[in-house]
Amino acid sequence: MQTIRTVGSMQRAARAWRRTDRRIGFVPTMGYLHDGHMSLVREARRLVGPQGIVVVSIYVNPTQFAPTEDLAKYPRDLRRDYSLCRTEGVDAVFLPSDAAMYPGKAEGRYSTYVVEERLTQGMEGASRPTHFRGVTTVVAKLFNCVLPDVAVFGAKDWQQAAVITRMTTDLDFPLKVVVAKTRREKDGLAMSSRNAYLSTEERAQATVLRRALDAVKRAVAKNPVPAVEMTQAVARLIATRPAARLDYVAFFDAKTLEPVAMVTRGTRMALAVRLGKTRLIDNDRL
Ligand code: PAJ
Repeated sequence: MQTIRTVGSMQRAARAWRRTDRRIGFVPTMGYLHDGHMSLVREARRLVGPQGIVVVSIYVNPTQFAPTEDLAKYPRDLRRDYSLCRTEGVDAVFLPSDAAMYPGKAEGRYSTYVVEERLTQGMEGASRPTHFRGVTTVVAKLFNCVLPDVAVFGAKDWQQAAVITRMTTDLDFPLKVVVAKTRREKDGLAMSSRNAYLSTEERAQATVLRRALDAVKRAVAKNPVPAVEMTQAVARLIATRPAARLDYVAFFDAKTLEPVAMVTRGTRMALAVRLGKTRLIDNDRL
């Protein structure tokens, strides 16, 4: 397994692989890898085949964190990440520094960003106003470094996957975006690097996100229910867990992300909940 640290060497390696007709599958991450990430790696491998190349990037991207957020204390464990990648047969880890990704930023010279203007408006975009600008910028840059044929993202971050898919089409990136399903713990909690922040008590209460998704699924299984009613029901359920605070719940069309007035089977639901200082998100098809 190779480690590649600079933009130039990443692009040179990618061009060499392409010259020998090997497909490149790419999984961008911020590290602190778990089985959710590794399921994307397995999907990338399946898509490019045994002769193909699987690249994982590990980069905690500063531009997608607001000043008030957890950039400095974002969990890191590079040794463990490496051992997981090796086990999964990853060919190369792209591990750029801040200086490599944002040349001149420390001196105020870096000045180009990528912005998706429509799908980023609600949900995570409303709660974290500068977040998606950082995500689209870094993912566009990573695409230009890794030159993948296919990039795999998790359904866990549904809005992010939709935004990246849109950006890829709008900016003519010559690659396919694949969205892989969410991996969960046994009790239904979606795997997330941020779960590491939870205290024992918060971890126990964190199952409320999955419970909310299941409760709404049951409620709309037979008949449509107004979104306002479902919103109140979710708020009441979240309030039964003392450590939990509802940030938002949304009911929307899976493709356009447009909110729906009536929640039915097939509507997509997403929610963000704070447990103490940790903010968790989840979503599912109802
Ligand atoms: P990160 O949170 O590390 O997630 C990397 C990828 O793993 C994303 O596509 C995310 O949706 C996926 N993922 C996370 N938890 C998952 C789970 N339980 N099941 C399946 N997939 C899961 O998302 C980011 O990093 C960053 O925003 C990034 C795209 C790397 C840009 O910096």
